[in-house]
Amino acid sequence: MSQNSKLYADWTDTYFDQDYLYREGLGISLGRTQKEIDLCIRIANIQKDQYILDLGCGHGRHLMEMARRGFANLYGLDFSQVSLEYGQKIAEKEKLHINWIQGDFRELDHMADMSEKFDLVWSLYNSIFYWNDDIHLKILKSIAKVLKPRGKLIIEVPNREAMIIDEYIAHSRILSLAREAKRRVSDLKYRIKNKIFFGKIDGYSSFAKRHFDLSSGMMTSSKQYHSKKYGDVVKPLQFRLYTLSELKQLLEQAGFEVLSFQESISGHPISSTSGNITVFATIR
Ligand SMILES: C[S@@+](CC[C@H](N)C(=O)[O-])C[C@H]1O[C@@H](n2cnc3c(N)ncnc32)[C@H](O)[C@@H]1O
Repeated sequence: MSQNSKLYADWTDTYFDQDYLYREGLGISLGRTQKEIDLCIRIANIQKDQYILDLGCGHGRHLMEMARRGFANLYGLDFSQVSLEYGQKIAEKEKLHINWIQGDFRELDHMADMSEKFDLVWSLYNSIFYWNDDIHLKILKSIAKVLKPRGKLIIEVPNREAMIIDEYIAHSRILSLAREAKRRVSDLKYRIKNKIFFGKIDGYSSFAKRHFDLSSGMMTSSKQYHSKKYGDVVKPLQFRLYTLSELKQLLEQAGFEVLSFQESISGHPISSTSGNITVFATIR
């Protein structure tokens, strides 16, 4: 783990709160969710009666879309009460049947009645690689236990190569801005280095400050914004970015065979500029 591990060790305890649900979770369009589901159904050839478990389901946007399409045996696991309650309310309104489970997927091993229950487990939108390789391996091994023989796994991860290209472009921009402004690069670096503008919240600019540790593969980030309800907010987060060969190795160690990597949403073949990658694997 990187130096910051102490600071960030428990960021997941507080990050996925009501503010996250309203600002990020509910901000994702239905069109995007539908495309993500189209891709999952296609790559895993999912049948309507199969048992599906969504790890880190949030408010259940993917499961609700599956239920609308007639899939019957849907389970969502998340530790965020606020997200689960929100999802439950919408599902009841729309008469969609989903089994909601509140729990920590690091404890999947200890959950009752889960052994060899599912045809497919998925975890979408960068939801499980928040800690270190030992923990991730343990999670993947416990996923293997809740899957039926030849069960399937889909994981969606951010593309490490694309994120590094982003950093490189940001760095080059700083250099050319400095040249244009005839200012010392260090002045500009001081102001903009690793501060990524990510939009306006309540009329104020919001930033993410990022640092990627090349040796550990950990991306640490801190979202900073001002909100009418919460005032000045600083939200740290940290996640592990894997190269695809590292990820393949980790999955193989846990007993999976990787069948494909595809660009998320579009389903195109992956490239170094693909933003997110959808990984499809089965139990070996
Ligand atoms: C980035 S969000 C994605 C939510 C959802 N998959 C989506 O695509 O909208 C990650 C979710 O994982 C949940 N989560 C994070 N760590 C968890 C854990 N250890 N156990 C259960 N849920 C967890 C969070 O509460 C959050 O809802």
